[in-house]
Amino acid sequence: MPLSDSHPLSSGLTADAPLIRAARGERPETLPVWFMRQAGRSLPEYRELRKGIEMLDSCLRPELAAEITLQPVRRHGVDAAVFFSDIVVPLKLIGEAVDIVPGTGPVFENPVRTSQEAHDFAARVRERISPELFAPISEAVSLTVAELGATPLIGFAGAPFTVAAYVVEGGPSKDHLRTRTLMQADPEAWADLSGAIAELSAAFLEAQVRAGASIVQLFDSWAGSLSRDRYQKSIAASSGLALERVRALRTPAGERVRTIHFGVGTAELLPDMHAIGADVMGVDDRITLDEASRRLGGNVPLQGNVDPAVLGAGDAVLQAHVRDVVRRGNSAPAHILNLGHGVPPSADPAVLTGLVEFAHSLPNGGRVE
Ligand code: CP3
Repeated sequence: MPLSDSHPLSSGLTADAPLIRAARGERPETLPVWFMRQAGRSLPEYRELRKGIEMLDSCLRPELAAEITLQPVRRHGVDAAVFFSDIVVPLKLIGEAVDIVPGTGPVFENPVRTSQEAHDFAARVRERISPELFAPISEAVSLTVAELGATPLIGFAGAPFTVAAYVVEGGPSKDHLRTRTLMQADPEAWADLSGAIAELSAAFLEAQVRAGASIVQLFDSWAGSLSRDRYQKSIAASSGLALERVRALRTPAGERVRTIHFGVGTAELLPDMHAIGADVMGVDDRITLDEASRRLGGNVPLQGNVDPAVLGAGDAVLQAHVRDVVRRGNSAPAHILNLGHGVPPSADPAVLTGLVEFAHSLPNGGRVE
């Protein structure tokens, strides 16, 4: 079924927004900019709203999730909202015992360790995916896009490896050793587990798009702990499945929904992560955009990659760094300015607002003739 006539992409409301144009490979007049984790702890108005409300509960209260999503758009004037939720929300919705512990991250009460547990978990996930599951998400997205007008909403999900890295380890880990052991010790159990998570992430993405998100980002934040060979053998198929579901969605006029794919420390993996079907590659700050573009053959729109550390270095250093990022981004057909990873909770919101103003003030949308 195509997207509805009233979807912001179908109606034309967001179809020519700078971010959507850049994702199509065009160079709009102003450089589009948004920040991963723009909704969150760097904002006093976020901390105020979240008082006494657990992270995952706040994600499942549509009015609250919509309001938190809108806060950074109002404050910073960014070119997109990113839906306030989390990569583990779909697992919470299907009834898994998961919590987000402040200062730590997602924690699973019953980590999946053995082959049998992986198969059981996969069966449980597949059984519980249903159209009604995402009702609070769809409602929050609808409320959000009604307020956003011509500013596009970015939907997102976790890629199967990054989600599995929490499910298998039970919580955050440095090297995701158990997850990487499972995929090599029992490739079948891994395929079942990662395939089921891919289905769940795909359903999460589709729910956000159908309710009004104009583009999506797949976060494979921890893919940087994999070699190219391992990525191709154990990850590409399931991540590709999650993106494929979005790529199949069309407006009544036939316009496809674009996808962004991002990971941390993935300089070596960029061509493989792109090959699974992403339109835009998100790049972290461990590689320059010109080098990233070279590795991708020079024809892939890029997103990134301001070093979050520079946010605290003062205006002169920050602006010089942003100019350099934008100049290097000229080697790609199109560029969406972002940080190399999420906004640090300690970031000064005024610096982020200043960065948006600076990016928007660059002549020619940042093109250097
Ligand atoms: O503004 C946005 O980017 C949208 C909201 C968003 C959140 N999580 C909200 C959140 C997004 C896109 C995510 C994705 C996410 N969640 C990823 C991929 C992106 C990345 O950063 O690499 C990952 C790995 C997670 C898992 C997760 N959830 C972590 C590591 C943490 C941080 C734990 C901590 O307290 O340091 C969370 C919690 C979380 N997700 C917060 C927010 C705003 C902080 C919760 C709080 O307010 O206490």
